[in-house]
Formats: sequence, structure tokens, C-alpha cells
Amino acid sequence: METTEQHVDTRRAFLLKGAAVGAGALGAGRLLADPPAASASGGLTPGDAAILQFLAAAEILETDAWQQYNELGGIQDSEVPGGSGNPAYTNALAVLDSDMAQYIHDNTDDEFTHFTFINAYLKAHGVETVNLDKFRTLPSSTATGAQQIGRLTNLMQLTVDTSWWTRYRSDSQNPDFGDTLPQAIPDLASGQHPAIPRSNADLTPPKHLQAIANTAGFHFAFIEQGGTSLYPSLAQRVTHTEVLRILLSIGPTETMHFQTWQDKAGNAPPLTDPTTGLTFPDLNADGELLQTNLIMPEPTIFLDRKFPVCSIIRPTHTEGAAMGAVNALTANGLFMGQSSEFFAVLKGLAKAADAARHGS
Ligand SMILES: [Fe+2]
Repeated sequence: METTEQHVDTRRAFLLKGAAVGAGALGAGRLLADPPAASASGGLTPGDAAILQFLAAAEILETDAWQQYNELGGIQDSEVPGGSGNPAYTNALAVLDSDMAQYIHDNTDDEFTHFTFINAYLKAHGVETVNLDKFRTLPSSTATGAQQIGRLTNLMQLTVDTSWWTRYRSDSQNPDFGDTLPQAIPDLASGQHPAIPRSNADLTPPKHLQAIANTAGFHFAFIEQGGTSLYPSLAQRVTHTEVLRILLSIGPTETMHFQTWQDKAGNAPPLTDPTTGLTFPDLNADGELLQTNLIMPEPTIFLDRKFPVCSIIRPTHTEGAAMGAVNALTANGLFMGQSSEFFAVLKGLAKAADAARHGS
């Protein structure tokens, strides 16, 4: 069996040899002067470690949001413990699909395993794991069913970008080409909206509670479409094939979540919240860019307009992908009330991940 040290030596020798062979064309001088320092991370390159650490942080934050959803609207069991359920909110979510509680539970369970696995993998390679517990300071909902503990994320003042809805229905636009897609639910994309009942006062009147459940329905898909783009975006810059395998194996589960949620969001009943005025329009009244049953990714432009359209995940540009995810979640209001130290830590992790390059 090869020891870690031998592996590192072999790998470094290979990299240096490769660099020498590619002299000139590959800028080998820089590589020779600054070889990847794999040994410090037990076989992981600093770039791979940074990408995995950022993903661990993103998964911890995702888990925190999903856990709040599960406590109020999911199935309560030992797999995802902590809450006791809110029957009125659970029933409002069930309007989107009778299995919503199961799906919320399973999405939550999946996110727990994502950060737990990535942290365990980092630890096994001698790399510092990610722990955000000191930032669990945000208040819980006081509605029946929620635990009263400090949270990392805020689901009670969300501004939900719903352009992913039209982005996956457009046959001629792609954010990787600089395109901006229109909102499916314009009201959700401005103002601040609760996606969980903030207290038992939010449980009535029925249309108010349904608007909250509808907001959650679109927020579920917003979160998971983010993961759907983030993993392939970062995968382009990892070095080790095993790290690539991790990203290629976790990323598509985010896509499976997204696909489920966008199907369910299409079942959110059109309505106007009598309390806030938040309106969910009839998405089937206005053409193919909004039609609810068009849940397969419409083929669109990819890489270069000279190629035929292709059914793809979008965006997948790799430049600044981690910071882009942080900015999108911040604009979502998910971190409202968090400390400046929290943002500094999260942006530091994103910056390091975005600095990673294949082979570094
Ligand atoms: Fe995840």
C-alpha cells in the first residue's frame, strides 16, 4: 500500500515532470517555482480543500434553513429531530402536493448528510473542518412546532428571486451569456416575505397562511437551483478525481431536489394575501415562459451561439461562483440579522474557493 508521503512524492514528481514537458506553452516556470503544496493537506491540494470547505459551509447553512422548514412543515421523526410540527402550515403546504411533508423531511435529511460527509472527508485528509455554531444567533419562529434555539438563517424576511423559473423555460437565453431572465412571481422578488409562520398569528386568515406556504414552495426551488449550479461551477476547478467524484455525486442530488420543488411550486394556487397584498399570479395565463408543466430544462444556448441549443443546467460559469452563491443567498435575506463577522467568515471561505484552480 502506498503511504500518503509516497503518494505526495509521486504526485509532485509527476506534476514537475509534466510541467517540464509542457514548458513554454503551459507557463511551466510558474509551476516549477510554485508547485502545488499537497502535503500540508494530506493529499488534498489547497484548492480542493478550499472548495470543499466552502461547500461544507454552504451545506451547513442549507441544513439550517431546511431544519426550520421541517420543524414546522415536515415529518417529525428521529431522522430529523427537534420540531413538533405545525398542522395548519403543514396543511397549507400540502395544497402544493400531498407528499410535501415527506419531501421536506427528506431534503432536510439529505442536507445534513452533505455537510457531515464533506466535513468527515476534510478531517480524514487532515484539513480543518467547518463549524458555524458560533453564528447560531438568529431567532426562531414562535409558531407552534418550532424549537426555540438560535438559527444561522432567517426564513421570515425573504426576497425570493424567481427568475430561475423562466431561466429554465427560455429557449434563447442563458445567464452565462449575460442574460437576465424575468421574474415568475414579481411580488416575491421585492419586499420581505415570511416563508414560515413567524408566530401563531400568521396561521390565519387561510389565504395569508397559503401565501406563506406558496412563498416556501418557491423558496425551496430557489435554494436547490442554487446548489444545482454551484456544484458543476466549482467542479471545473478541482484537482483530484476523488474530489471531482464528490462534487459530481452530491451536485445532482441538489438537481433532483430542484426538479421536485419546481414541479410543486407550479401547484401553488394563484391568490392575493389579504394581509400583505402579496400576489401569486396564474402562471398558465401568459405563455410558455411561465407555463407550470414545462419542468424539463428547455434547450437553450450553451458555450457559444454557433452550437445548436442544448438542454443544460445553467448557469455553470466557474469564475466567482462561490461568491456569487453567497451574494445570492444574502440578497435572498437568508442571513438578515447576522453579524459582520459571519459575513467575513463566509466571504473568506468563498474567496478561497474562487481562488482555487485545477492543479492548485
Ligand atoms: Fe446539499
